[in-house]
Amino acid sequence: MRRLALVLLVSGCARTIAPVDVSVSDEQAQLERGRYLATSVMVCGTCHARRDWSRYAGPPKEGTEFAGSGDIARDEHFSPKFSFFAPNLTPHHLGPWSNGEIARAVVFGQGRDGRGLFPYMPYFEYRESLARDDLSALISYLRTLPAIGTDPPGPQRFAMPRFVLDGLPEERPLREKAPQPGAPEYGRYLTEIAGCMGCHTRADRRGLPIGAPYAGGREFIVPAPGGGIVRSANLTLDDAAGLGRWTKERFIARFRTATVETARQQVVEPGGFNSVMPWWAWARMNDGDLGAIYDYLRTLPPTREPFARWSP
Ligand code: HEC
Ligand code: HEC
Repeated sequence: MRRLALVLLVSGCARTIAPVDVSVSDEQAQLERGRYLATSVMVCGTCHARRDWSRYAGPPKEGTEFAGSGDIARDEHFSPKFSFFAPNLTPHHLGPWSNGEIARAVVFGQGRDGRGLFPYMPYFEYRESLARDDLSALISYLRTLPAIGTDPPGPQRFAMPRFVLDGLPEERPLREKAPQPGAPEYGRYLTEIAGCMGCHTRADRRGLPIGAPYAGGREFIVPAPGGGIVRSANLTLDDAAGLGRWTKERFIARFRTATVETARQQVVEPGGFNSVMPWWAWARMNDGDLGAIYDYLRTLPPTREPFARWSP
C-alpha cells in the first residue's frame, strides 16, 4: 500500500514535455544528411535491428535494420528477469507519431504516451549534444524508410521501476546548428553524437561510468555461443595503452576492416574472439569525419589503466 502511494505521488510529478519543434522536409540535402547520420554516425540501426551474433561484430539480420530488435535483455545481457527491446523505427510503428513526438523521444526520452524511455536508448547523450538541424534531418529520413511490419518480441520488463523511468525525461535547450567540418568543435560533436564514450569508459554493474573517460576497459560479455569477455580499447593518447602511436591513416583504415557484407560472411566459432563494437556501421562514415574524430581523441589526456582486451 505504502509503495503504491509512493508510486502515485512520484509519477504525479512527472512532467509532460512539449513535442520538439523540428523542420522536417523531403528536400534532397536534408534526407541525405539524415540518412548519413542514422546509418553511419549515430547508427540507430545497431540497436533497432535484430543482430546475428554468430558473425563478426553482430551484423544486422537481412532486412531488419531500423525494424526493431529482439529481446536485448535476454539475448545480449543474459538477464532472464528483464526483457526489453528497441522498437521498430519504420512507419509501421512510427507512422501515427507526429514529427515533434519522435524528436521528443530521441532527445528528451519521453514516449508518445508520456512514459519515460529506458535510458539504454541514449537520450541522455543526445540531449546534451545533438543540434536541432541534425535532429530535423534525422526525422526527415526516418519518414522515408519503407514500412517493415516486424512485431515486438514481447512485453517489456525494465531493470528500473516505472515511477523512476517516468521521472527521467528532461527538457534541455538544444543548439540550433551542428558545427560544420573544419570548425574546432566538429570532431567532438561527431564523437558525442556517435556515442563512443559510453562503451569506451569503464562502468560499474549498473552501467555508471567509474573510469577515466575514453580510457577503455569496459567489460562486455560477447552475446555469441561460447561467450567470452571483450573489453573496450583505450582511445586516449597513451603511447602503449592507447592510440598515441596511431597515425590518422591507421585509424581510418581500422574502420574499413568490416562492412555489413564482410561481417555477415565472417563466422565466429563458438568461444572465438568477437567484438560488441558495431564496426560494420561506422565503416560507412567518410574519411573526413573519421579524421575529425581522430583529431578530437588526440586532445584527451593520456591515461593508462592496464587490462586484457579479451578473456575467452
Ligand atoms: C544503444 C541502443 C540504442 C541506440 C543507439 C538508439 N536507440 Fe532508440 N531505443 C533503444 C531502446 C532500447 C528503446 C526502447 C526504450 C523503451 O521502450 O523504454 C528505444 C526507443 C526509441 C524510440 C521510442 C519508440 C517508442 O515506441 O517509444 C525512438 C523514437 C527511438 N528509439 C529512436 C532512435 C533513433 C532515431 C536513434 C538514432 C539516432 C536511436 N533510437 C538510437 C535503443 C537505442
Ligand atoms: C558498443 C560498445 C562500443 C561502442 C559504441 C564503440 N566501441 Fe570502440 N570498441 C569497443 C570494444 C569492445 C573494442 C575492443 C574490441 C575490438 O577491437 O573490436 C573496441 C575497439 C575500438 C578500437 C580499436 C583499437 C585497436 O587497438 O584496434 C577503436 C579505434 C575504437 N574502438 C574506436 C571507437 C570509436 C571512435 C567509437 C565511436 C564512433 C567507438 N569505438 C564506439 C566497443 C565499442
